Amino acid sequence: MDQTLVLVKPDGVRRGLVGEIIRRFENRTLAIKALKILVPERERVEQHYSVHRGKPFFDSVVEFMVSGPVVAMVLEGENAIPIVRNMMGALKPAEAQTGTIRGDYTLSVQENIVHGSDSMESAEREISVWFGKEEILP
Ligand code: TYD
Ligand code: MG
Repeated sequence: MDQTLVLVKPDGVRRGLVGEIIRRFENRTLAIKALKILVPERERVEQHYSVHRGKPFFDSVVEFMVSGPVVAMVLEGENAIPIVRNMMGALKPAEAQTGTIRGDYTLSVQENIVHGSDSMESAEREISVWFGKEEILP
């Protein structure tokens, strides 16, 4: 069973989309193995997006991510990583298909509602950025 790290970003929480987003993943029968809400510390977000350090959008995306509460969760299921990525939709707004979270709820590249890990390695690393082992159900 694969695990992936999902975040409902501050825009998703502000817009009251937490329930809608969790509902989509539950409907898909992904299992919630950990779940919490927090206003993330800057260092945590910088670690989360460490592969993007030095890129032109880095400071801006960090600022956005610390702007309010985020809902973090670990979802589990067969092929959870690509399935969540497909359900999220593409980064480029014009490429995010209707029916995906981004395709249904945003026109913005930065304020794009959700994060989902993009590989096994990212998932393992990102889960450890947001959760201690004791916070994740066996
Ligand atoms: P990235 O990992 O490329 O996208 P994804 O969220 O689909 O995995 O980028 C991480 C986040 O950084 C992205 O969700 C929004 C922000 N970002 C920008 O604001 N502008 C950009 O040009 C890119 C590439 C990303
Ligand atoms: Mg990414």
